[in-house]
Amino acid sequence: MSLPASVTRSIEQLKHQHEAPLCAYVYDLPALERHVKAMRQVLPENCELFYAAKANPEAPVLKTLAPWVDGFEAASGGELTWLHEQCPDQPLIFGGPGKLDHELDLALQYRISAFHVESVTELRSLARIARQRGERAPVMLRLNLKLARAPQSRLVMGGKPTPFGLDEEGLASALQLLQQEPSLELKGLHFHLLSHQLDVDAHLELIRSYFLTFRQLCADHHLQLPLLNVGGGMGINYQDATQSFDWSRFCQGLKVLIEEYDMGETRVRFEIGRFISAACGYYVMQVLDIKSSHGEFFAIGRGGTHHFRTPAAQGHDHPFTVLRGSQPAQLRDQPVTLVGQLCTPKDVLARQQPVAQLAMGDLLVFTLAGAYAWNISHQNFLMHEPPLKVFITD
Ligand SMILES: Cc1ncc(COP(=O)(O)O)c(C=O)c1O
Repeated sequence: MSLPASVTRSIEQLKHQHEAPLCAYVYDLPALERHVKAMRQVLPENCELFYAAKANPEAPVLKTLAPWVDGFEAASGGELTWLHEQCPDQPLIFGGPGKLDHELDLALQYRISAFHVESVTELRSLARIARQRGERAPVMLRLNLKLARAPQSRLVMGGKPTPFGLDEEGLASALQLLQQEPSLELKGLHFHLLSHQLDVDAHLELIRSYFLTFRQLCADHHLQLPLLNVGGGMGINYQDATQSFDWSRFCQGLKVLIEEYDMGETRVRFEIGRFISAACGYYVMQVLDIKSSHGEFFAIGRGGTHHFRTPAAQGHDHPFTVLRGSQPAQLRDQPVTLVGQLCTPKDVLARQQPVAQLAMGDLLVFTLAGAYAWNISHQNFLMHEPPLKVFITD
């Protein structure tokens, strides 16, 4: 796979600027901006696009996205504060299980747009804290209901027992509490049932279930709710990025569903992480050593899964490309396993992958490294130095 010229240039520059073997993250911000703009362009009118900052909360990433998204989703007090500091004018929404009282209080201070309430206990805490502050908290109930058709993908977090959201029983208690509590204002319902969705038709069916459930619950409980949050979860195909979730086709289908279920007056909100930021990131490791062990070749790069846990977290061989250095090839048309510097056999980024040529000093550039990568890694393990970080701008 060939790299964008600006990315190759930036990596070559880094190599010349640093004598030590290279280990770096490179983020292509213009590409990120083009991508989010294109996503926005095809989004139906009544839909909103929030960015789930957990995918990659780097400040330049947030600032690049800010003009093109409707806000950011945070999943902890730490993320809330960070987002508030980096982009003070952006609307924030706050999800995630086990919210602490002081985080709920902080969120009220920040005047966030919505609390995604995950349990009845949390709803009670929010009511108490909002009451103490003399404020009304905007509430979205996160639901984990039995749907007509169970959602399917590699990572399902609803439609079955999970710690997330309210089931039918929890929903009944929550609605009762909401009726009694003037410090709570129900704004809408929230679903996020899966991640890694690659199948557009399956996702449209899931959205159909959300629309049906939303309509039904509003009718059953005489509610007029302005908002439906349908989560994120659009997937990246790491083995063949061209087969990633087809956002344009999805948006066409979404328009049809919005008309079919008369959802035009409801704001339909997405909170997407991976699909927005994955493609803008590159993780670069310079090859320190090439060896054979019991008949298999290993290339040891500077860095590893303590910087870039994505392949270990996903259990996949991460896609990469080789930028050749000046040394004659030590391997030609050979399968090689790419590993890092950690003292564990789990520190593998790709197993037995064919390379046309490889030598010590070459650069391994892992693509699709802009989401759930650096920030999900066990960075302090073995106390290696952190990677350099470069943000390409126009
Ligand atoms: C509640 C919630 N919303 C949104 C997201 C973002 O998901 P993705 O990065 O798959 O789009 C997640 C991810 O775990 C989540 O838990």
